[in-house]
Amino acid sequence: MTSPSRRPLILANAKMNLTIGRANAYLDQFLPAYRASPDREVAFAVPFTVLATLRERLQGRAIGLAAQDLFWEDEGPYTGEISAPMLTELGVSYTLVGHSERRMHLWEDDRMVNSKIRAALRHDLRPVLCVGEAEDTRMAGAAGSRVRDQVALALDGVKPRSGADLVVAYEPIWAIGTGRAASPADAVEMHNVIRAELRRLLGGQGEAVRILYGGSVTPGNIDAFMACPEIDGVLVGGASLKPEEFLRIVGFLPLPA
Ligand code: PGA
Repeated sequence: MTSPSRRPLILANAKMNLTIGRANAYLDQFLPAYRASPDREVAFAVPFTVLATLRERLQGRAIGLAAQDLFWEDEGPYTGEISAPMLTELGVSYTLVGHSERRMHLWEDDRMVNSKIRAALRHDLRPVLCVGEAEDTRMAGAAGSRVRDQVALALDGVKPRSGADLVVAYEPIWAIGTGRAASPADAVEMHNVIRAELRRLLGGQGEAVRILYGGSVTPGNIDAFMACPEIDGVLVGGASLKPEEFLRIVGFLPLPA
């Protein structure tokens, strides 16, 4: 069963979308219809340039603020980079780390991902470590070992104060933005691989880490994913950009008590 400490997290990933104008228009539609519920957590991972706008608009609402990346040093000669203290100053509580689009387009490797996770945890910023296999890896029957390696390398030497400070998002690359979500059964199998690795690396703390599924989550499949006790939430790209779709996703049916 899902441990009571693993409150489901529904995290929107806006990617490189949303200008300040578009973010405001989105919230004009989303906020009046949004009802917070104590049995779930909702957060928006948005571009750095709209964090301040969201912070202002989300004041007093039970919605968290997340970044999509951070740099591993706190300050210094790193032109163009953004550090954990700069994010926490803006009220950011989560940050994605190692999204496959960054690994692909910006050559982020496991060592960089590891340094970023350490930097986030040093500053009480909760990292959302993104892992997932490419389609050919799955076809070759190596999805489990690939993802296990990604988790082990990303968390090498990492000691969170509490497992609850860490989130892992399982996002198969072939399911991102394709409309071809993993089946809940395939996702559960991979979540079990990740959970076992978390227990090996973090001992008892591994139990409290939330593991999200991401990749073509929609209003049509959210309830099936959230009906699986192994799935502690979702990371939602495309569907999170449409307020009416994201409202339906955050309103997923709860597991029977
Ligand atoms: P998608 O993206 O929901 O559009 O597939 C998910 C993600 O990349 O986080």
